[in-house]
Amino acid sequence: MDAADIMRRVKSFTEATTLSDAMPLDLNQLVRDLLDARGTPWADLAAAGTIEVAFEPGDISEVLALPAPLREVLVALILNSVEALPGGGRITLRTWATPEAVYCAVADSGKGLSDEVRHRALEPFFTTKGPRHQGLGLSLAYGIVRRHRGELEIPRGEGQGGVVTFHLPPHRHAGRRA
Ligand SMILES: Nc1ncnc2c1ncn2[C@@H]1O[C@H](COP(=O)(O)OP(=O)(O)OP(=O)(O)O)[C@@H](O)[C@H]1O
Ligand SMILES: [Mg+2]
Repeated sequence: MDAADIMRRVKSFTEATTLSDAMPLDLNQLVRDLLDARGTPWADLAAAGTIEVAFEPGDISEVLALPAPLREVLVALILNSVEALPGGGRITLRTWATPEAVYCAVADSGKGLSDEVRHRALEPFFTTKGPRHQGLGLSLAYGIVRRHRGELEIPRGEGQGGVVTFHLPPHRHAGRRA
């Protein structure tokens, strides 16, 4: 069952390899839709008052992206934050832009990542969560972001909980970077 599940996750990732179906997307809207959706772990925990989820949308241009894989990236990051808050806490999503890139950060008030975990977190199958987790969330997210000609980074938390950021080229620059 675990092997089948791993193959399903990897397969859905390899299907997302071509950007030819990419479309201009508003990352703020994608985040809002994901946070507004009912029945997600974060919506249930927020409704129960266990966690608080905040979104601070920035003034950003569209990105050229495949909606489903990009949603997977956000889901992987938000789930990691949910899992980092077993006793509850706060998850904050932010977007902002520079002339070169559209940024998104998912931060939480959990205990964050040690330097050792931070350095290994993008490795496929690296997990600190035990056998019920596959350690694929971040490595697949990283792959998807790279396919979109972006970057995913885990900045040093400086004692402020977990933070993962990614950035993508803005739509108008997408062709130039190819
Ligand atoms: N927000 C976070 N706070 C603390 N640790 C984190 C956070 N995000 C990731 N990590 C660490 O990085 C590791 C790898 O994350 P990744 O999402 O790739 O795998 P996983 O969550 O363990 O398993 P899976 O995503 O397959 O369920 C985690 O096991 C955890 O130790
Ligand atoms: Mg994960």
